[in-house]
Amino acid sequence: MKEVIYLDHAATSWPKPPAVGEAMLHALDVAGANPGRGSHRMAVQASRVLFDTRKVLSSLFGISNANDIALGSNTTEALNLAIQGHLREGDHVIATMAEHNSVRRPLEYMRRIRNVEVDYVPVNAAGDIDLVQLERLFRPNTRLVVCTHSSNLLGSILPIGEISLISRKYGATFLVDAAQSAGIMPVDVQQLGIDMLAFPGHKGLLGPQGTGGLYIAPELDLEPLLHGGTGSQSEAIEQPLVRPDRYEAGTPNTVGMAGLAAGVKHVMELTPEAIYKHEWELTQHMMQGLSSVAGIRMLGPELGQPRTGLVSFTVEGYDSAQLAFQLDRRYGIAVRSGFHCTPLAHESAGTTLSGAVRASVGYSTTSQEIDALIHAVNELTMPR
Ligand code: ALA
Repeated sequence: MKEVIYLDHAATSWPKPPAVGEAMLHALDVAGANPGRGSHRMAVQASRVLFDTRKVLSSLFGISNANDIALGSNTTEALNLAIQGHLREGDHVIATMAEHNSVRRPLEYMRRIRNVEVDYVPVNAAGDIDLVQLERLFRPNTRLVVCTHSSNLLGSILPIGEISLISRKYGATFLVDAAQSAGIMPVDVQQLGIDMLAFPGHKGLLGPQGTGGLYIAPELDLEPLLHGGTGSQSEAIEQPLVRPDRYEAGTPNTVGMAGLAAGVKHVMELTPEAIYKHEWELTQHMMQGLSSVAGIRMLGPELGQPRTGLVSFTVEGYDSAQLAFQLDRRYGIAVRSGFHCTPLAHESAGTTLSGAVRASVGYSTTSQEIDALIHAVNELTMPR
């Protein structure tokens, strides 16, 4: 029995499938040694856990060589590896106003320390971008295009396949932030023409927090973000060239990766297509139900349009943070309010001052839980 109505899946999924916790306990018991550091049986068992995780992720994302995945702690780390590892002095980058701070801050840091120039393509009220406007921004020194697959505020789905084609035309590397799409909808790096894919383990992939990773196309040579022990080529003073060791210094989160593999297997059994359909139907139900609330403004794509499993809204005359607080305290409904680490998207939506309440659904959310949210928002905003 769930004790809360959890509508904060865009921040992290909960509850996890039971198999996730079971796999983690099992890994602690039988694979508790340090992977890649020693040849005793339990160390080999730990290496197998990482190998298995890489294999299931490859299968989910259409990646042909599992060693092209650098496992790490979260999407932010993956994006930092991609951005800092790829950009050189004086490069130009194109990103969008839908980006999270996990893209914007590393880019602004690169602007400061490597004289990198950055352009952000505007996003319209539906959370979409104009591809003609994007194409106009290319310059001879454009080396990277970064785009979120889906806005964590607006729920819009960006045209990744088309952006990839344009990026290729100008010889730029294409990095996708799949924080809100991995496991929630089909993501195939080959079909979509993605050169680097940063993904969280703890959201749509249903793994534990502290897991994530970066797919790096084989022809790219990123500078590692971390330098240190890898258990391989210990005599070399430089980071090994071999993947994934090059990008995985230090003892990894083997137990977390065991949980992540179990989460991905669960996603693959359900299928990302079915998860998307389930979440989309819930958002449509939510939008229809909330539309009767006086003064409500729902952000992002219109009813009936594609969107990932979240609806952000403001209610005129009500403070977003207060609404979220009351939803939790009076109704046991967990949502996120504030600025969602995406100030540029709030600028696009015109909610820079108000922030917004965001209700986000997951694979286990039910229609009754959405009814409870609709009822609670109606009650909290009733004219007094
Ligand atoms: N990026 C996560 C969110 O949107 C944490 O809530």
